[in-house]
Amino acid sequence: MNYLLIALLFTANLFAVEFNKIDDKKSLELLLNNIHPSGTEKGVVVASPSKSQPNYFYHWVRDAALVMSTIFDVMVVEQDPIKKNQLKSLMYDFVARVQSNQQASGFFNLGEPKYHVDGRPFTGPWGRPQHDGPALRAVTLIKFANYLIDEGQEQWVRENLYTPELPALSPIKMDLEYTAIYFNSHGFDYWEEVMGLHFSTAMAQRRALLSGAKLARRLGDNGAADFYEIKAQKVSKLIETFWNPNKGHIESTLNQTRGVYKSQLDVSVILGVHHGDNGDGFFGVEDSRVMATAVKIEESFKQIYSINKSQDHLGTAIGRYPEDTYDGYRTDRLGNPWFLATFAMGEYYLRLEKRLRNSSSVNIQDVCHRLQLSGCDSKDKLLSKLRNKALGFFKRADYHADDNGHMDEQMSRFNGFMMGARDLTWSYAAHISAALQL
Ligand code: NOJ
Ligand code: NOJ
Repeated sequence: MNYLLIALLFTANLFAVEFNKIDDKKSLELLLNNIHPSGTEKGVVVASPSKSQPNYFYHWVRDAALVMSTIFDVMVVEQDPIKKNQLKSLMYDFVARVQSNQQASGFFNLGEPKYHVDGRPFTGPWGRPQHDGPALRAVTLIKFANYLIDEGQEQWVRENLYTPELPALSPIKMDLEYTAIYFNSHGFDYWEEVMGLHFSTAMAQRRALLSGAKLARRLGDNGAADFYEIKAQKVSKLIETFWNPNKGHIESTLNQTRGVYKSQLDVSVILGVHHGDNGDGFFGVEDSRVMATAVKIEESFKQIYSINKSQDHLGTAIGRYPEDTYDGYRTDRLGNPWFLATFAMGEYYLRLEKRLRNSSSVNIQDVCHRLQLSGCDSKDKLLSKLRNKALGFFKRADYHADDNGHMDEQMSRFNGFMMGARDLTWSYAAHISAALQL
């Protein structure tokens, strides 16, 4: 065989993206089953159809915001006009749902983590407030608002999404005002377990404020735009303090006052990098602090889950954080890998590959070294290594999904069988969001 042929075969192999069971179209179908399922109000996104052990049949603010952000991203690239319109109408339903949730809670309780499927705020004991919710929700709605303005729907946006008046009553403005006031206040983390200040929450808040400032300016609300920008600068300063040079990674929580002990290595940091991506490189995928954190997170899960030892032809199965004791049913067991966490790492390497591909000044050896890869003798080699690395995480999820592509919350760290809430909506959103980078 000549070298060219070998090279071609090699390339074809590397770039063929085929998995046995998971497929992003299938994931979209399964995700859509969880939006406004029977017995729920329009615009409700249930975290999972599971109504007991565990009961996830609620509209969580964080899950819903992230899921609808993915719906928006799919809508933008969808070519079929009928499907595009269906997705768009889900976005309109979501806007109405947000309005009703916000009105039901009132401004000072926008940090409410979840709602019943009939729209009432959940009032039982829970880890509250959670300040990431309003920020993530604002980010999703701001993307939609800009899209509608580009389409000539500015009037609709002014009436239904962003109105300059104060006290804020429109959905985006309410969430932005709340975020501007509470960015520095303690709340519960993405995992609803520990109280303090959180990297992921702060990243979401920063992006909400910066993209919110842009939208406000676009709509002539300049005073508000200035105000959101000033707050965003403060959030940026706060975010810098999560980098711990002694430990060599970004910590997930600072000033923790309640909850379990954590080494602070947490995949929520990577989620924060994704959800807080404002396109300006701030704690972006190519930031050396983020690279170091990604490597350490993977390393820690490689060591503690037995499935990572026995099946090393697959990428590493990733959990929330090493000390996790939530197994999907109870909080006094050993935690497991999660699908959404594993996809988040896949998305990380895909986004990094894209970023470096489009950059003219990549220090190949430096990146290679930081990510503990070897043999990157050219930029192309490095890029294909990153892509391969990313595909490993997809393969891992594929291996543990069921034959029809269903994915629950977790997979057993011992035998890989799925555990926890079935058909977790966020598992599908995380898959699609990563696959959009392929
Ligand atoms: C405990 C888990 O650790 C937390 O993440 C979850 O939100 C709650 N239980 C409710 O399911
Ligand atoms: C537990 C997760 O820790 C939390 O992030 C999520 O919002 C809920 N489950 C619902 O999916």
